[in-house]
This record gives sequence, structure tokens and C-alpha cells, in this order.
Amino acid sequence: MTSEDHLSPKDVLLLNDRGDHTVPAARIYPFRWLWDSALIAVGWATFDERRAWTELDASMSAQWESGMVPHIDFGDGAGSYFPGPATWNTPYNSTGITQPPLTAPIALAVYKAARDRDLARSAAMTLWPKLVAFQSWLYSVRLHEETGLVLSVHPWETGLDNSPAWEQPMSAIDTTVVPTYVRKDTTHIDHTERPPQLFYDRCYALLIDLKSNGYDTRAAVDQCPFVVADTCINSIAVEASEALVELGRDLGQDVAEIESYLEHGRAGLATLWSDNVNAFVSWDMRTNKPIDIATCSGFFPLMTDVPSPAQVGALVTLMNKWGAKTRYLLPSFDPSHELFDPRRYWCGPVWINANYFIAKGFTRHGHPELAQRLLDDARRLVEMSGSREYFDPFNGDGLGGVEFSWTAALAMSWFNGAIA
Ligand code: GLC
Repeated sequence: MTSEDHLSPKDVLLLNDRGDHTVPAARIYPFRWLWDSALIAVGWATFDERRAWTELDASMSAQWESGMVPHIDFGDGAGSYFPGPATWNTPYNSTGITQPPLTAPIALAVYKAARDRDLARSAAMTLWPKLVAFQSWLYSVRLHEETGLVLSVHPWETGLDNSPAWEQPMSAIDTTVVPTYVRKDTTHIDHTERPPQLFYDRCYALLIDLKSNGYDTRAAVDQCPFVVADTCINSIAVEASEALVELGRDLGQDVAEIESYLEHGRAGLATLWSDNVNAFVSWDMRTNKPIDIATCSGFFPLMTDVPSPAQVGALVTLMNKWGAKTRYLLPSFDPSHELFDPRRYWCGPVWINANYFIAKGFTRHGHPELAQRLLDDARRLVEMSGSREYFDPFNGDGLGGVEFSWTAALAMSWFNGAIA
């Protein structure tokens, strides 16, 4: 297949544009997802800054009174999706769980690169209280006080929904409460590229558990069968605090509170390093044990200043080791692990957002050549297979959703040096 057979990244964005937000992919993800909209904004910013700010604002839509920003805003969208609004049944026409707080770092990047300074300033001012309320919620309701880590109560909160890291903390979940239901994802995508049925049942069981608590997720932290301190949310939360300090200072806002989240967050993230794995790992907070397996998000702390030089060196070695086993970097999961699966989502395929995060991290820590390798591989994959959701790390096959918005947005911006 050649690049002529694929829609251009810009056409992908236009195809998935719903006016004030962009759906991740028309058939499989027909609503507004939190961290997707943040990434998608960088694509819009390359040719329509106003639309980029609208997208960032949309990413915070349906924010709950508590400050929590739900992972899906169902809005008035329609489409075949399970679990949809009726199953979640929250007062906000949204899900009752969150996702990585990526809007703040991306808002800062769009703000710094903006040509229309007046627009950028007023749009950032509109976003500011929403971003602060979300960050405050993460570092209060979801704070693990002993460590400074942010806790997650559902695998879908971590963004890496079906990562093998969740196998063990999900193993004790009782699925007898799950009624008969019909999955919609496997009607759109080959089931071998999607989570296995038992995993989906467990996710649904957790949803039922959270719903029975009225989505009081602080109570969930104390009672929910699944509580993890995850490397993705915690890395992005630290990055978000850093971004808010910088943005807030520029906007003339008081950032003392955010600075305290930054301090907690950094201390917490540092505790996730594993000498066994030579990467950062998530923790199962129910058993208070590290989940000692390496996933792509084990590299995400590189986006912050938390890793020591020795840890950066170990991550370089680990990436090179994975690179020797696969043709394209970076597999989303350790290619020598028995649970590795090059075609199933988050169990092995390459994700372009992960490459972008890790490339940013290696640039920050003085390894531009590794950042370049991640960029080159991402570019080759998209040229070969189009703006797919994820890619086989051996042969580059496009997998999962087609015309996937964040892949397109990063191809328009990161691939062309439009964002750092
Ligand atoms: C999948 C991904 C999640 C993403 C969503 C919409 O569920 O795991 O990270 O936000 O799709 O693209």
C-alpha cells in the first residue's frame, strides 16, 4: 500500500470533526474522549488556532462539579458504543471515571507556539480555572497521601486500557454481577486486535461497582477492587503541574497550590522506579506491590525531570533491547514477555502518542538521536499504513481503528516539527 491509498492526516481530522470537538474515530469511538481531544488539538493548531482552542475547551467539557473531568463526554453524539450513556447513567451524560490530564501540557504547547497571541491569552484564561480544578481534584480526591501518587480506579482511566500490567490487579474481580451484554468494539474491529472477553467483563464489573457507589471515587479508592498508581497518569499529572506553573505565571495567576502538587507528584513518581525491570512500573495499591513488568508508559516519566541520569541510561538500554527485537519502535509492551501480543491493543503494538511522549522525554534528557528514531519509525508507519490507531511492530500493519484522529494530529504537528 502507498500513501496515496490513505486519507491525508488533515482529511482525517476534517472527517472526524463534529464542530466543537473531534471524535477519535468515527465508527469505533463516536464521542469526545479527554486525552484524545488534547492531542487532537495539536493537529488543528497547525492550520486553525481558533479550532485548536475549541478542541482544548471541549476536552474539559462535562467537567463535574467536583473538578473531575470524565474520560468520555457523550454530549449529543450518537453511535454504536458499549458501555454507552445509559449504562454509565451519570448526572453529566458522561462516564464516571477520568483519563490522563493531558490538556494542560498541550494547552501550554499550543499557547507557546500561537501566532495569534490575543486569542491564545484569552483562550488560556478561559481554560485556566478548569485546568486548576481538575488538577486539584487529582491531588486531593485521588491522592495517595503517603507517596504523593495519583490513584486510578479503572484500567480505562490510565489510557492504556488493556495493558498486560492490569492482568494481576484485575484477576480477583468477580464477574458474576455482569449481565448479558453485547460488545460493539468487536463488530467494528477484528477481535484479535481488541481486549479478550474476560478482561471486558472485568471492566464492566468495575463499572457496576463504581456506579453502585454513585461514582464517589474517593470511596472507590478505599473500597474498589482495582486501585493502581499508574505510570501514565502520574507522569502526565507531573507534566501537567509543570505546565500549569509555567502557564499560570505567564497569565499572572497564583501558582502556589500547583507548585505543591508538583512537589508531591515528583516525589510520588520517583517511587515508581523498579530495579527489577529497569523502568518505571505501576503499583497495585490493593496489595501494595509493584507490577514488575515493563510497558511503554514505563518510559513516560522521561517527560519530567524525575528520572536520575542512571535511570535515563537504563531506559536507553531497555529501548535499544526492545528495538533489537522489533522492526518498529516502540512496542507498547515488553516484546520478550509471555503476554506480549504484537496485534492486540496495548499488549505490543506501536502507538504514535506513546512514541511522541517518549521522544519528548529523550529530548529533554539529552538523547535527541533516540527521539529521532521514535519519530522516524512513527512517520514510516503512518506513511505505510495510514492514520491507524496502532501498528504491528514487526511488519507495520495498521491495526484497530481506521482514520484515527490523534495519529493524524501528531502526523500534522510532531512529524513536521510544529510542536516540541
Ligand atoms: C482506547 C484507548 C484510549 C483512548 C480511546 C479513544 O480506549 O485505550 O486511550 O482514549 O481508545 O481513542
